[in-house]
Amino acid sequence: MAGLVIAMDGPSGSGKSSASRGVARALGLRYLDTGAMYRAMTWWMLRQGVDLADSDAIVARAAEPEIVSGTDPGGPTIHVDGIDVAGPIRETEVTASVSVVAAVPEVRSRLVALQREIIGDGDIVVEGRDIGTVVAPDATLKIYLTASAEARARRRHAELAGTTVEAQQAAMARRDTIDSTRRADPLSMAAGAVELDTTALNLEEVIAEVLRLAEARR
Ligand code: C5P
Repeated sequence: MAGLVIAMDGPSGSGKSSASRGVARALGLRYLDTGAMYRAMTWWMLRQGVDLADSDAIVARAAEPEIVSGTDPGGPTIHVDGIDVAGPIRETEVTASVSVVAAVPEVRSRLVALQREIIGDGDIVVEGRDIGTVVAPDATLKIYLTASAEARARRRHAELAGTTVEAQQAAMARRDTIDSTRRADPLSMAAGAVELDTTALNLEEVIAEVLRLAEARR
């Protein structure tokens, strides 16, 4: 892996997406949102009517959808079997189910292989839950973003209409519990990762701190 790889992991609402895109733009790197790939797989399973309570059913179909991620930080794209799903993958039904699908090892191994292909020779910022631990353990810089549960719920609430901060906090807590307690590649801080608590930081401050850390590793 010759080029720069910046791994950005952390729970939902920790500010990963905006910070990762900002860092990629500032450094002229590509950007990969691995969460969007798990969401795309989930969207497809729901559309196919796969019973998500039945992990064997998920395993049986996991190899079928063709998932293609665009890596321009100015406008990342995601397609499933040629369909643009950037909007639908953010809908409540997908968000509520994605952690269940992402906990299935066969889903993970397929998407991790795709992610490594996209990372290739590097020059990329990759965001997710297991980038520093599993997908790119040799990354140049590994960041673990955190924020208080309340701050994370407030940020997500600001992005979404039709829910309360409390409902948002409960839904995120459920997702984080599944993500950090699953057997396959749980969310955890990678060895050598730098923890960055974004509770009291604005986006520009988070980006500046990651750029400073990246500069120090060059
Ligand atoms: O980042 P985002 O909130 O879009 O991720 C959606 C879900 O995808 C996470 O809650 C998690 O279940 C799963 N995910 C994962 N591993 C990754 C990225 C996301 O398991 N690398």
